[in-house]
Amino acid sequence: DEGVVRRDRFSGGPARGFMSSLAADERIFAADVAVDRAHVVMLEEQEIVESDVAAEILAALDDVESEGHAALPEGEDVHEAIETAVVEQVGPDGGKMHTARSRNDEVATCIRYRLREDLLDAIEATLALREALVDAAEAEVETVMPGYTHLQPAQPTTVAHYLLSYEAAFARDTARLLDAYDRTNQSPLGAAAFAGTPFDIDRERTAELLGFDGVLRNSMDASSARDFLLESVSALATHATTLSGLAEDLVIFSNKGFVELSDDYASTSSIMPQKVNPDTLELVRATAGDAASGLSGLLTTLKGLPRAYNRDLQRATPHAWDAVDSVSEATAVVAGAVSSASWPEETLESAAGDGFSTATGVADALAMAGLPFRTAHEVVAAAAERAEGTPDLATLDASAEEVLDASLFEYVSRADVQQTLDPTHSVESRDSTGGPAPAAVTAQLDEATVELNDH
Ligand code: ARG
Repeated sequence: DEGVVRRDRFSGGPARGFMSSLAADERIFAADVAVDRAHVVMLEEQEIVESDVAAEILAALDDVESEGHAALPEGEDVHEAIETAVVEQVGPDGGKMHTARSRNDEVATCIRYRLREDLLDAIEATLALREALVDAAEAEVETVMPGYTHLQPAQPTTVAHYLLSYEAAFARDTARLLDAYDRTNQSPLGAAAFAGTPFDIDRERTAELLGFDGVLRNSMDASSARDFLLESVSALATHATTLSGLAEDLVIFSNKGFVELSDDYASTSSIMPQKVNPDTLELVRATAGDAASGLSGLLTTLKGLPRAYNRDLQRATPHAWDAVDSVSEATAVVAGAVSSASWPEETLESAAGDGFSTATGVADALAMAGLPFRTAHEVVAAAAERAEGTPDLATLDASAEEVLDASLFEYVSRADVQQTLDPTHSVESRDSTGGPAPAAVTAQLDEATVELNDH
């Protein structure tokens, strides 16, 4: 790419459509106009292009911008098409726009410029989702629900504790996206094809005009690196994976009647009149697959590419657009589903003790009374085996006699054991940092709120 407008070179041939990225480049149309403007302003300031010519080029770019991407002449890509349009309007002097650059640094700059905006949208969506989770949690600090491991009832928890578990994960997703943003926000412009330019350009100036934090220091790296795409899509795929877990839980919970999703996030069946299905959340669950396939598409496209620019890179970019679009959209959908959902207290509370979910609390009480935890575990396990569901005091005592050769009540009072069997008490007792007890959850809520207000 020697920086010459060669309409003739893209005039025909069976591979013409195959080579062109013009349609997909609509995504970076506005970015390219911005990059062209910044470059021309810098060329004029450095006295590389005469002021009147620069003014004519800038005027032509205004027209190109207002006519839009669809009005562009044909071209191998948006960069060539915009240049052709400028030359058509300005005459041969329009070709001075491409002094001291190449499409290689130009496209890399455009992608980074546009992706910044998209990453900010994705980050905003994660923040809105976290706010929705915090708001919902605030209302459910006391709402006891079953907690699961291996999809089996494990220990009682609260809806707030559950919701904040995802808020905490999305906080890390946000941090990863912000990191990706920082490394995306560096300017490759002025790297030219890869080997720089003899013109006295000012790369810091174009970086500043385009709002980049700085310039990439090596021109060969600048024009060919796409690890910022990998990193961004990896952060998106990680976030989508977190999101898919929440979506899956909500599908399961709604199936059990533990959560009531708003009709806006459900869908009916075309044949079965009674059905209300959680389709939106199933689509969210699938979005993790889209994002992961985008990541794998990028990895396989970029793997083993030689330095410096290779046209393969043209096909890497759309993976990033697809991932960022689907993940941002899915994030917003989940925020809406969470905000509009309700948590039926009675159903949740009565299920919270299912499957002897308070067993750990009974063992903890025995351990607090001085029994080694492993022995306490044995006593309660023996009672669990004897009983169907939650054992009564007599069954627990019989197990103690068997394992310890002593009555359970030599260790703990009847009243205390009775209390440990109550799911609400079980939750209240687990007040360690990060735990489900209302006080511990309130501390988590406060921390999350402070963090969210800092963004
Ligand atoms: N459209 C190309 C891309 O997306 C940029 C063109 C660079 N072309 C070239 N022959 N060096 O990567």
